[in-house]
Amino acid sequence: MRYSPLADRITGSGRGTWNVHAEAVRRRNAGEDIIFLTVGDPDQDPPEAVIEATVAALRAHRTGYSATIGYPAVREAIAARVARRTGQVCAADNVAVVPGAQGGLYCALQCLAGPGDEVYEDLAFARPHVSAWSLPGMADCTIVVSSLSKSHAIPAFRFGWVVGPRALSSHLSNLVLCMTYGSPAFIQDGALVALQRELPEVVALHEEYRARASLLTALLREAPGCRAVPPEGGRRHVRAARHPRHRARGRRLCRPVARARTGRGIAM
Ligand SMILES: Cc1ncc(COP(=O)(O)O)c(C=O)c1O
Repeated sequence: MRYSPLADRITGSGRGTWNVHAEAVRRRNAGEDIIFLTVGDPDQDPPEAVIEATVAALRAHRTGYSATIGYPAVREAIAARVARRTGQVCAADNVAVVPGAQGGLYCALQCLAGPGDEVYEDLAFARPHVSAWSLPGMADCTIVVSSLSKSHAIPAFRFGWVVGPRALSSHLSNLVLCMTYGSPAFIQDGALVALQRELPEVVALHEEYRARASLLTALLREAPGCRAVPPEGGRRHVRAARHPRHRARGRRLCRPVARARTGRGIAM
């Protein structure tokens, strides 16, 4: 069979991370004590209120096709959150619900190439997150992509959004209609609770990530030939190799360090 050129274009280096993740899952399922440093899949429990609202929606048989780019209440809740956090006007018309931030980036880039990825806005440690949308004169020319995957530990919901000019929402509506037919109603019902309420689990999750970041920085500083840069937020760590030979072998260098036994399990 002949495949389209797209098949080659999407064979990116990002696949390697998922390969390590798959191996880590396999070894955990086989009984090994594994610490996941692989993909950004939160291991904390999601907020109970979000799960309850999702289950209640399923029990109410909210299983039909949904509003393509989100129910008005969900789009309004996202718009209110953006307006509250940025101090700029944002209306439901500026918002499109998409399948996670990853789906949002894809959709936005399909309609219009532009910067912006705020999936870690709730996990900023060094200083409060500043959205490009909040800067003077930027709201009209900024596309914000975000989701609840990390902040609420619900990546499987595939719930995210794109905020931008109203015209973009209308293009996104056409695109999402072709692609997914919209985010399931029971997912949107659960996400609405996350958007409208301050949930204690989210605060606890933030603090836990901050503590983990400090622990990991301390551990990585002991790695040979490396300098650990403490993360200012999110779930990522940057390690700089001091020796040019180490820099050239960046990936290979990371492996033995990341897999080192930390005394708390095997880090992968
Ligand atoms: C920087 C960044 N953006 C986006 C995503 C994907 O987020 P979502 O689950 O909302 O698609 C990830 C996942 O690891 C990520 O690390």
